[in-house]
Amino acid sequence: MSELEYLSVTEDCPVGWCGFTAPNETADGEGAVSLFEAPQRDPRAPTFRRYDDPGVEALREALRQHNGLPQVEICAPSDLERIARVFYRDGFVVVRDLLDADKLASLRDGCVDQLSKILEIPGEGNRKYLTESFRLPHRYSYGTSSASRQLLHDDRWSSVVDLDTTTPILQKLFGPLGYNVIGAGGDVCLPGSIEYQNLHVDFKEDYQVSQERIAHAEGVGIKPRWRADQTLDPRSQQMILVRTPPVITINFFMSDLTWENGPIRHIPGSHAMPFAPPSQEDEPEWMRLSTLVGASAGAGVFRDSRAWHGATPNVGRQVRAMPNVEYGAQWLDDSWFERTMPDEIFQCLSQHAQNICQRVKSDPDVWPPGAGIMHPHTQKRQQAKEQDGKGDTT
Ligand SMILES: [Fe+2]
Repeated sequence: MSELEYLSVTEDCPVGWCGFTAPNETADGEGAVSLFEAPQRDPRAPTFRRYDDPGVEALREALRQHNGLPQVEICAPSDLERIARVFYRDGFVVVRDLLDADKLASLRDGCVDQLSKILEIPGEGNRKYLTESFRLPHRYSYGTSSASRQLLHDDRWSSVVDLDTTTPILQKLFGPLGYNVIGAGGDVCLPGSIEYQNLHVDFKEDYQVSQERIAHAEGVGIKPRWRADQTLDPRSQQMILVRTPPVITINFFMSDLTWENGPIRHIPGSHAMPFAPPSQEDEPEWMRLSTLVGASAGAGVFRDSRAWHGATPNVGRQVRAMPNVEYGAQWLDDSWFERTMPDEIFQCLSQHAQNICQRVKSDPDVWPPGAGIMHPHTQKRQQAKEQDGKGDTT
């Protein structure tokens, strides 16, 4: 029986730990295997991808003792003032109980189904799996693995874009000017993801302060000050930039984040940094350990996409899945939006969800190219998108 018969995102399962996949190995767009160079390469990774390898056991013990931000603040969904305070201060905030039991079960099923499509493709040589193009082994993006680059065609993702628990928080953070859905996907790491992903940002601040962005800032309580020459006071300008995140991502946790299952790491206060995060060679140990250990299944993290973050080793036996939804400020230009949500999905959404999905919905009877095709390699996805698109809607 295939190991995928036992695939789970909540229980121990036999997937992962492919000893034939070298540390820091990656694949290019066509799938050709090579080793990562800096900055993606983790120079401190164990030498072998085996559960009981001495290097892995040493890493596991270090993580057992030290992994996790001390006293991660975890907010209740109704505590909007505290959520906003922590989010603006740290660039991220963990909120518990975002998903009820039904939504959590449904999203878990979706994570297993979509991951199965990726893992069922045989690996090169003796390897168990294909590595996703330009990523570390055993780590996949649900979004980029989809040939449409999103999973908005899957109702298990589209049904969480507007929740009683998340919408008031997004309205608080984006203010009355509003926001739009950009996409949905997330990431997943298999047991045996022994490398750290380099710290990075998902959105690089461009320091443009348009009139709409100023209006966004005023909507969340900023009172801009102007100098005599009609330019913004520098402190006001900085405040506007910090308080108007262009993109906010919610990652939902399918399982408790533990010291061993690859909890996301986030560097508090980094959303306003004008310089790039440190390379893996230069990254201090405290940043490697700055993870969200302690967050529970059904909780999630609201992330300012400008903040420094990265994936961490999964040295256990459980898959760690973190599906997401990305939202953009009203003033983001059209280049951020692709029409990846089928009309038939759109028609089933709430009125508010329809309002915020206007910029990603397809026309009636137009299937989003590539939707339904999952593949780790860029070239295969491009081919599928060009040929397409008659995917499924599971
Ligand atoms: Fe990222």
